[in-house]
Amino acid sequence: MNQEISRRRTFAIISHPDAGKTTLTEKLLLFGGQIQVAGAVKSNKIKKTATSDWMEIEKQRGISVTTSVMEFDYLPDDAPAGDTPYKINILDTPGHQDFAEDTFRTLTAVDSAIIVVDGAKGVEVQTRKLMTVCRMRNTPVIIFINKMDREGKDPFDLLDELEEELQINVRPLSWPINKGASFKGVYNIYEEQLNLFTPDKQKLTEKIAVDINAPGELEANVGEDDAEKLREDLELVDGVYPEFDVNDYLSANIAPVFFGSALNNFGVKELLDCFVKIAPSPRPTKAEEREVNPEEAKFSGFIFKITANIDPNHRSCIAFCKVCSGKFVRNAPYLHVRSGKNLRFSSPTQFMAQRKETIDEAWPGDIVGLPDNGVFKIGDTLTEGEVMHFRGLPSFSPEMFKYIENADPMKTKQLQKGIDQLMDEGVAQLFVNQFNGRKIIGTVGQLQFEVIQYRLENEYNAKCRWEPISLYKACWIECEPGYESELEEFKKRKYQYMAKDRDDRDVFLADSGYVLSMAQQDFKHIRFHFTSEF
Ligand code: G4P
Repeated sequence: MNQEISRRRTFAIISHPDAGKTTLTEKLLLFGGQIQVAGAVKSNKIKKTATSDWMEIEKQRGISVTTSVMEFDYLPDDAPAGDTPYKINILDTPGHQDFAEDTFRTLTAVDSAIIVVDGAKGVEVQTRKLMTVCRMRNTPVIIFINKMDREGKDPFDLLDELEEELQINVRPLSWPINKGASFKGVYNIYEEQLNLFTPDKQKLTEKIAVDINAPGELEANVGEDDAEKLREDLELVDGVYPEFDVNDYLSANIAPVFFGSALNNFGVKELLDCFVKIAPSPRPTKAEEREVNPEEAKFSGFIFKITANIDPNHRSCIAFCKVCSGKFVRNAPYLHVRSGKNLRFSSPTQFMAQRKETIDEAWPGDIVGLPDNGVFKIGDTLTEGEVMHFRGLPSFSPEMFKYIENADPMKTKQLQKGIDQLMDEGVAQLFVNQFNGRKIIGTVGQLQFEVIQYRLENEYNAKCRWEPISLYKACWIECEPGYESELEEFKKRKYQYMAKDRDDRDVFLADSGYVLSMAQQDFKHIRFHFTSEF
């Protein structure tokens, strides 16, 4: 395999809010030599933004709204001198669950994922949802059980909970020595070494390697009681869990589990060192027409995210393109499959949170930022000429709906442009009611409405007002072949509740579960879909 491809590791860190995703990301950057001091996350989150946060609104709210990309080279300490470092691409995801769709889409662009679980809280709602998406795509996952410095659940109970709630087999590859105030560190099962660390929130600390089979050595470091408990636990782990086979992980049948405390740098290096060794390099990507192999000579890629105005001083959009095959080259002409146009990119960029650099080439697994003046939509494919379409995740039927109205008649154009661009970014979904022509915005959570309003004001100088609309679900509808007249009849009868989405598809706005089930009963040849792809 081409070394540029085999050394790449493109992944996302995902978690339920507050489990420690941002802290872990920062610690990985710290180990990767990208930052010297971790911006102690939440307490300083508002004043001194964490490196992985971007937008003003995040600073205000202390949440990550947008997905940023961080990349760095990393070589584990024990790698032979002269070895080529791994190239790490971390795709950060919004911490707040109201932006879950953004996270789901990011998962289309990764080759693996690390799921962070709070050791005291165990599996939470969002963890479950994210794991479902990983399962849908057979994405290999590693689980990091965080906050072991707090009194939490028993590690064996946690592993049972993971298996049951996330429907995946697990295999611990590190093991905690105690928890809470007496937490001393983790035994690295994968490397068969005990690493003791001095807790330090800010900097890297030296690790002490201990051979647990050397008589008395473990006792001298952790005390008699903990040494005995660790030996017992490890025996039990070996008895209960099958031997770790990396192929089971790569085929998404088993999730390796690491324990630690991101805040205190416990267990993070074990995680990272093992991760780079076992995590998959770029995998084949499915297009509608065929499967695309990263080793193919010709470039192909797809847009999984669009962000407007990263730098408030330069009004611009950036489309994030995941390279799937071949080599991306600056200034080369690429086919934008949806429009049929050839495009050249003179200033493609790569990212390190707020810093971005122009690049000349990129390889499969890399994320390239392409300046966008409204050409791209999420899911667009770029190729060297072949007409093919990569498949992204469909849009899900939103949970909340509001009418959006113009609150400043002098700024109608700005509002329209703002709404268009925010929808292209996938911030929310827009439906136009065919009866009264009013625009309806559908979201996953309340916070998205606030973000839209804030961004319209700050980035587009437009003001909007929300008006309530009582809706239960928006479903995409189509009829079975030969039943077009039934569809027409349905649309006529429900004309007050019919809308179009941005691709001009018919959407039925059901105002209650009862109305929807009656419609399903009365119109047997109409299909009601809860995702936009069918
Ligand atoms: P998120 O991105 O998943 O939402 O989580 P984030 O990293 O922001 O962490 C959420 C909170 O958990 C933060 O505290 C962070 O300091 C804390 N945290 C992260 N890792 C650990 C860990 O290993 N041990 C402990 N004890 N805490 C950890 P916060 O919200 O500011 O709360 P506070 O405790 O500082 O008041």
